[in-house]
Amino acid sequence: MTNSVQHLSIHNLPWPVDWAGVFGAARPLIVEIGFGRGAYLRHLSQKYPDSGIVGLEISNRCLQSAERMMAREGLYNVRVIHATAETALAHLFEAGTVSQIHINFPDPWFKTDHHHRRLMRAANVALLISRLRPGGALFLATDIQEYAELTDTLLSQVDGVENLLPQPWTHDMPGRTPTKYETAARREGRMCYYFAYRRTDAPVAHIPVNKELEMPHAVLHVPLSLPEIAARFAPIKAAREDVHLHLMQAFLGESSMLVEAHIGEPTIRQHVMIGIYRYAGGTEPDTYTVQISTIGQPRATLGAHFAVCLLRDWLLTLHPEVRLLHQKVQEQP
Ligand SMILES: C[S@@+](CC[C@H](N)C(=O)[O-])C[C@H]1O[C@@H](n2cnc3c(N)ncnc32)[C@H](O)[C@@H]1O
Repeated sequence: MTNSVQHLSIHNLPWPVDWAGVFGAARPLIVEIGFGRGAYLRHLSQKYPDSGIVGLEISNRCLQSAERMMAREGLYNVRVIHATAETALAHLFEAGTVSQIHINFPDPWFKTDHHHRRLMRAANVALLISRLRPGGALFLATDIQEYAELTDTLLSQVDGVENLLPQPWTHDMPGRTPTKYETAARREGRMCYYFAYRRTDAPVAHIPVNKELEMPHAVLHVPLSLPEIAARFAPIKAAREDVHLHLMQAFLGESSMLVEAHIGEPTIRQHVMIGIYRYAGGTEPDTYTVQISTIGQPRATLGAHFAVCLLRDWLLTLHPEVRLLHQKVQEQP
């Protein structure tokens, strides 16, 4: 029997998500980042039966086991999404719409050259706070003192939140349902550090939700065959604004050529195929359309537009008679 359930991911959800539609009614939104085994998702679901609980994870194993738990236990008010927290918060949630955010035992990334991967860094803290509604709360737990100190520094210095505790953190949160990491930390004698902050009415950095654009395309007259175009291809690296592009290699087919591309943007990284397709609709021979292939569930970000422009610009260099016929691309943020 085939499993026809569509797993929710940053690639198949609309940007932003209509959460009332997802949960069947407008509910306060509670987000848990990196839910691991999912014990805390269950706890949130039961403690807040009228809320919509959204779990964000990057581990497929965790997602699958949470989905099984949700089905087995009938956790009707929980949805889990395959996405990094950074990407999901930027693309799926409007500013000021989340009631609670929970972060339990985030990966510490101990090595200095891995610090940029930490969830708790200034840009992410601004994003987290921007997603909370005034009065909304941010909870974090860790068993790593250095991470606790970092969290304290970041949260105590940022505008728009107040500490709900009389001290930077507490070592005990009575009534908590322990997570897997928490249980292990306590068993191994490590102290836990708990944070509880609330968003105030003070203004915070406005970070608008990152919406999807229309898919880009460009149509060109190129007096060369597809094999001739493919033979001239060499990898191209480029950066535009804060987008990093890498056109890596070309694959030649019957009526198209696909270019494998990496598109790195501050909020999302995509690995896509950009096609150069022989254009069937036009009257001119040697007409090609450049557009993102549907392989790999690409999303029409600004970076995707820049990538199509990069391939278009390369085609324009191939022959003196290449002409741009029409296009739908965005070249500026
Ligand atoms: C140390 S484990 C903690 C798991 C669970 N919260 C607990 O306390 O037992 C960190 C979890 O965060 C997930 N994770 C790591 N980076 C993430 C990110 N950027 N966005 C969402 N989840 C992430 C990992 O897959 C892992 O399940």
